[in-house]
Amino acid sequence: MYRILHKETLTPVTKLYVIEAPEVARKARAGQFIILRVHEEGERIPLTIADYDREAGTITIVVQEIGASTRLLGTLNEGDCLASFTGPLGTPTEIETYGTVVVVGGGLGIAPIYPICRALQEAGNHVIGIIGARCGDLLFWEDKMRGVTDELIVCTDDGSYARKALVTVPLKELLESDREISCVWGIGPAIMMKFVALTTQPFGVKTIVSLNSIMVDGTGMCGACRVSVGGKTRFACVDGPEFDGHEVDWDLLLTRQRIYLDLEKQAIEAYEQHLASVES
Ligand SMILES: Cc1cc2nc3c(=O)[nH]c(=O)nc-3n(C[C@H](O)[C@H](O)[C@H](O)COP(=O)(O)OP(=O)(O)OC[C@H]3O[C@@H](n4cnc5c(N)ncnc54)[C@H](O)[C@@H]3O)c2cc1C
Ligand code: FES
Repeated sequence: MYRILHKETLTPVTKLYVIEAPEVARKARAGQFIILRVHEEGERIPLTIADYDREAGTITIVVQEIGASTRLLGTLNEGDCLASFTGPLGTPTEIETYGTVVVVGGGLGIAPIYPICRALQEAGNHVIGIIGARCGDLLFWEDKMRGVTDELIVCTDDGSYARKALVTVPLKELLESDREISCVWGIGPAIMMKFVALTTQPFGVKTIVSLNSIMVDGTGMCGACRVSVGGKTRFACVDGPEFDGHEVDWDLLLTRQRIYLDLEKQAIEAYEQHLASVES
């Protein structure tokens, strides 16, 4: 039984869940993900492990409600159980002592960078975090991020909170300064990760991104998550999700993310009709 022990609203579209999953928590590492189903016939939803507690046997996930399945998940409450919760999946982040590193989290990407910053800091790195969102209302975990970074830069696209800038602006300033940056992580929407990689490329700084391609089985069998990295086909679920951002074919990823757009629209319409019929 994968019971929801705690549920919290982080922003108007983002919810946090602490799930009882001792087997997953025992092996979980930064950079990995799980796949859950709300009910037996439900869609499989891949979600990054935002935190884990081995002793308590829990996994924390942070979910943005964008379509039918994530909205359905949002209707569950503390005490309810998920039909399945498989993981940890994917290859963990390569944690080494690099020196000074910059970790960039955009929007929902703030959740996956949290355990990465913590592991990098524990390994003795000087961790500079950059977090950003479209507006202040969509920003979360600023305090939590301060606890796992040596420096934290906060920005919003519209300037409604903290510095008005896209996350790539302070990143470029750091790269242009006399500080030696050994490695950069960028996690968030694909378009943001593409621009993080384009920002670091002229400086020749190694840049890791986490690819959120469409996934089905999460075990390398179905081929749904295939991406092109360095001219080679890779499966994001088993070869990644982290890859060298300078080698990713971003245009292919962005196109493949949109292939089910019509079906997703139909699913949302059906879900809204179902809600309306239940409420009337
Ligand atoms: C490795 C990985 C980690 C992720 N981590 C998180 C996370 O921590 N928090 C979070 O909120 N979201 C995360 N996502 C994205 C999340 O899986 C999708 O938002 C979710 O599946 C959307 O389902 P839906 O039915 O609500 O929306 P839909 O209307 O079905 O889809 C909305 C958009 O979500 C994406 N999507 C849909 N189905 C899938 C799928 N099976 N696999 C991947 N993307 C899909 C597509 O870009 C699509 O356009 C992650 C995705 C991957 C691959
Ligand atoms: S999700 Fe099926 S191969 Fe990766």
